[in-house]
Amino acid sequence: MSICTKKYLLNNGFYMPAVGLGTWQGQVGSTASKEMRDTIIYALQKGYRHIDTAAVYGVEEIVGEAIRMSGVPRSEIFLVTKLHSTHHAHVEEAFLESMKRLNCEYIDLYLMHWPQALTLDGKHTKTPTPPETWLSMEALKKKYPDLVRGLGVSNFSEKTMEELLKVATIVPATNQVEVHPMLPQHDLVKYMNAHGILTTCYSPLGQYVPAILKDAHILELAEKYNCTAAQVVLAWEVSRDLVVIPKSTNLDRIMQNITYPELAPEDITFLNDFYKAPGMHRRLCQINGGTPTGHDIVIGWTYEELGWEPYTVE
Ligand code: A2P
Repeated sequence: MSICTKKYLLNNGFYMPAVGLGTWQGQVGSTASKEMRDTIIYALQKGYRHIDTAAVYGVEEIVGEAIRMSGVPRSEIFLVTKLHSTHHAHVEEAFLESMKRLNCEYIDLYLMHWPQALTLDGKHTKTPTPPETWLSMEALKKKYPDLVRGLGVSNFSEKTMEELLKVATIVPATNQVEVHPMLPQHDLVKYMNAHGILTTCYSPLGQYVPAILKDAHILELAEKYNCTAAQVVLAWEVSRDLVVIPKSTNLDRIMQNITYPELAPEDITFLNDFYKAPGMHRRLCQINGGTPTGHDIVIGWTYEELGWEPYTVE
């Protein structure tokens, strides 16, 4: 097994590495530590060429510092950050603040983190709508073409994407959504592919539930390929031509997460169908309703407004 160097051509003409390092630490604005900076430096020095972050993670300064300290030229690194929901009415200001914190010359992709807008003090608001926010992002790209190379979204469904595409003159380069064996998002990926939008998988290992990495069948595959369950899962996602952004601050797991076996077609089929087992098909991220009791309000919007499949506890 060697380091995965697969890249995809985006609809804006740039290439995006299939594997990125996630930097979500599990809580909003968590204190970004020296430890985290060192793990990002390690990842870059060992071959990662894509870092995924967001304003709301509270770690942009650390990410920028790690990139500058890594010794890897900026031009070789693909850097993604995201617009906080509180700033849909203040896109330019938010972007320039992220640029200042990252201090990394330019951003490869700037994503609308969620379709939902919040007020500056975090209250739910119906405006701007996602298409309105997208038009502000397009205006940003036109004003600063050298600072923002591409635009994308996160947590969009077919429904919210349809609305956005009605007004868009720039098609999002990626849609970043929760994807793992219990939520393969086959239909959404198909829809995005049909529109030239690459899907990025967040929480590609399933965030909080051991049902995936401790599953007996996945562990059997790990044994067959002489690797870990995480490597099997990530290999499957990349075999589907998706981007994965596993987060880890453990040096051994950071290396595992970019080194995959080549899966046999029957094993890819098994993982494609993994979600079909009783009680398996569900979201795992807590914010998305992946709690034992489930819920269907996410940042003030119902699943129906989001265009998400209802979550059922089986
Ligand atoms: P750690 O940072 O200690 O490695 P996701 O990116 O799907 O949200 O998952 C992140 C979680 O999975 C983190 O808790 C991370 O912990 C853990 N993790 C990351 N890589 C692996 C791996 N290869 N094997 C097991 N757990 C992993």
